[in-house]
Amino acid sequence: MHDPAVFRSMHVARFHAEPAIFVAPGRVNLIGEHTDYAEGFVMPAAIDFATLAGISPRTDGKIVLYSENYGQERSFEAAALPTKASQHWTDYPLGVVAILAGEGLAIPGFSLSLWGDVPLGSGLSSSAALEVVTALAVLSLIGVSYPGPVLARLCQRAENEFVGANCGIMDQFISANGAKDHALLLDCRDLSFKLAPIPSHVALVIANTMVKHSVAGGDYPTRRRESEAACAVIASHRPGVPFLRDATLEDLEKWGHEMAPKSLMRARHVISENLRTVAACEALLKGDMAEVGRLMGEAHTSYSQDFEGSCVEADAMVALAQDLPGLIGARLTGGGFGGCTINLVEQSEAAGFAEALAARYANQTGIVPQIHICHASGGAHRLQ
Ligand code: GLA
Repeated sequence: MHDPAVFRSMHVARFHAEPAIFVAPGRVNLIGEHTDYAEGFVMPAAIDFATLAGISPRTDGKIVLYSENYGQERSFEAAALPTKASQHWTDYPLGVVAILAGEGLAIPGFSLSLWGDVPLGSGLSSSAALEVVTALAVLSLIGVSYPGPVLARLCQRAENEFVGANCGIMDQFISANGAKDHALLLDCRDLSFKLAPIPSHVALVIANTMVKHSVAGGDYPTRRRESEAACAVIASHRPGVPFLRDATLEDLEKWGHEMAPKSLMRARHVISENLRTVAACEALLKGDMAEVGRLMGEAHTSYSQDFEGSCVEADAMVALAQDLPGLIGARLTGGGFGGCTINLVEQSEAAGFAEALAARYANQTGIVPQIHICHASGGAHRLQ
């Protein structure tokens, strides 16, 4: 069904109108977790799981949203759109439309078909892909184009302000701005970025623990609050530290005793993760894959022990990968508490690695995982 021609026919059969078709990818984060909302560094790559949107204009003033994944159609009046989320998949496209309307854009009626293969609730940013593809489709319909970073910020606002998930900018940014065969080091302070090629002998092996994760759930905002509380303690001594991006490990040595123990641990993760992420990009640019892998290993330990953002299954998936042939580095990726691990693996060993990891994980946990051999793909764009 990823075939755009099949997707087009589906839209035409349902809405009797020719659609413009857009695609936006999910992402995997190689390193830099829970640093984006602290204005720090992240290094994700867009992947070849994506969401498609087909859009065509309507003359009846309605916005009709159809999801092929859910087999559901919902209809709204363009002039009287909901102002609040309703815990439904339509929150994401409606949130984007609400933010665009808030920017002063006149939103006409349209039919929007959606289909995606980004696994839901797996830490691979299915929601960001849905937001970004909707934004591209609607903007194109009204003849407006924004630079990728602006598009990403609008989509992040849809998730923060409409959907109600307090996420950072990483997911929307990489979905809008990813580059084929590259990871992207993003400075979440000013949205400047650097592309680092992923060598062709390296595969991105994504291992789904099958434990669902949710950014809207309680753990993500709790961790965010705990790390921000640590920052407030540092800022009370050193006002030049509005975000943990500006803090150092020395700050924690000096004032850590004034923090709640959990806050100190969260901050130690965020501050050290920023250092690791910048170092990992430098290593990737030099082609030093052993160093990238070492930093990923350290990042996982920090995420699991200091940030307490992992879970038994994700720790098992990382541990079980360690001595498999071809492994360069493994860690839990994304918002945490489940979802997927990212394994950088020698391409020549990737198929055997995936098979052996799946067998080991099923044997240890009783859960059959999904393991995907992915490639870094380009960012969101129009298909036809
Ligand atoms: C989720 C959020 C991102 C980021 C990661 C953790 O994916 O959407 O903004 O905070 O978690 O790194």
